[in-house]
Amino acid sequence: MPRSTYVTLALLLAFSSLASAQKKVVCYYGSWANYRTGVAQFNVTNIDPFLCTHVIYAFIGANTNGTVKILDSWNDVSLNGFKDFNNLRLKNANLKTMVALGGWSEGSATYSTICNNVALRTAFVTNLYNFLVKWGFNGLDIDWEYPAQRGGIAADKANFASLIKELRAKFTPANLLLSAAFSADINSYGTSYDVPTLATNLDFINLMTYDFHSYGDGKSGENSPLYAASIDTDKTMNSDATVQYWIKQGVDKMKIVLGVPLYGRSFTLKSATSNGLGAVTVGAGALGPWSQEAGLLMFSEICMYQKNQTGWTVQWNAAQQVPYAYRSTLWVGYENKQSVEVKGKYAKDNGLGGVMVWAIDYEDFRNFCGGGKFPLISALKANFTA
Ligand SMILES: *[C@@H]1O[C@H](CO)[C@@H](O)[C@H](O)[C@H]1NC(C)=O
Ligand SMILES: *[C@@H]1O[C@H](CO)[C@@H](O)[C@H](O)[C@H]1NC(C)=O
Ligand SMILES: *[C@@H]1O[C@H](CO)[C@@H](O)[C@H](O)[C@H]1NC(C)=O
Repeated sequence: MPRSTYVTLALLLAFSSLASAQKKVVCYYGSWANYRTGVAQFNVTNIDPFLCTHVIYAFIGANTNGTVKILDSWNDVSLNGFKDFNNLRLKNANLKTMVALGGWSEGSATYSTICNNVALRTAFVTNLYNFLVKWGFNGLDIDWEYPAQRGGIAADKANFASLIKELRAKFTPANLLLSAAFSADINSYGTSYDVPTLATNLDFINLMTYDFHSYGDGKSGENSPLYAASIDTDKTMNSDATVQYWIKQGVDKMKIVLGVPLYGRSFTLKSATSNGLGAVTVGAGALGPWSQEAGLLMFSEICMYQKNQTGWTVQWNAAQQVPYAYRSTLWVGYENKQSVEVKGKYAKDNGLGGVMVWAIDYEDFRNFCGGGKFPLISALKANFTA
């Protein structure tokens, strides 16, 4: 071979290993954010195409006959949601655009039915592949919540692994990406996940390391604690426990992606004067003006509240490396700049392949609060890639 060929080959190899070793910043986009009103309305045009390395459009669903179900044809098709999302790559050719299948509201039963029948599963793989090609997505993220739970059957664990293997075989020749989102609760893994098979066949693994505590607990607790609190009876209910579980299974660390919530879980305290961690609560925190969901506040709402309203107290929970804040009987465990900096550094120090956020539309994307646009994703990324 001529010398120039060797040089070209060496360069290609260098680039391809760089590409596979690229640190990922994965951002989910909850497409229903387009229905928020006024200043909180967020759609594809609000996504900065240079902020994340991978953006994931949530969600598409499935029919029990193995076809893909478009969940909101008005928003996704008529308003050009899918098309505009994939066209973000015209602004940044290095950006990867993916679509997420499933999610909490889609439940588990449909996926259980499809995957338990080889003919249906085979058709499903083909239908998903055709869907990605038709709309121009770079890949698929599977959010089956969760195999063998919520109306599933015991065989889901093996059937999910088969689905992933079959998708991998179909996607590799077309250079399509395949990822999945996983429960943070490692106590459920024996029921739901064949970890070695899944890890081998996925390009990356999005750990949903949040929702560790919410108002159903009857006491205040952090949404995404990095470490256990002294009052925790279950010491696995934190992001570090989930990450270290995957590492101990021998999974390639470059496939492990740490999830970071850009929202808080809110509670109504029984008493405004008993407001620490583990304080007695009587229900969900009142719904936020923009998200309109009891028990949840978007980061944009939390920072706006703290700016507009007097009477907020913010505490740094040093043991768990996250803040909480309260005002009268409203209590919220959430993320701020400091906690995402810690999480970015944690992902870096542990040699993980990426960080992930749910969701980009929860961010302070208009700079209401004076920390710049997208302050949390920017701080997370800076500390992870430093
Ligand atoms: C699959 O089911 C959906 C929803 O019931 C239906 O609209 C579609 O026509 C079916 N497709 C096939 C190929 O059977
Ligand atoms: C996206 O949001 C902007 C306002 O920020 C609005 O003008 C536009 O119509 C929206 N696009 C779609 C496709 O709904
Ligand atoms: C809070 O302040 C912002 C401007 O910083 C304003 O747009 C918004 O309407 C205010 N929200 C509430 C609920 O008072």
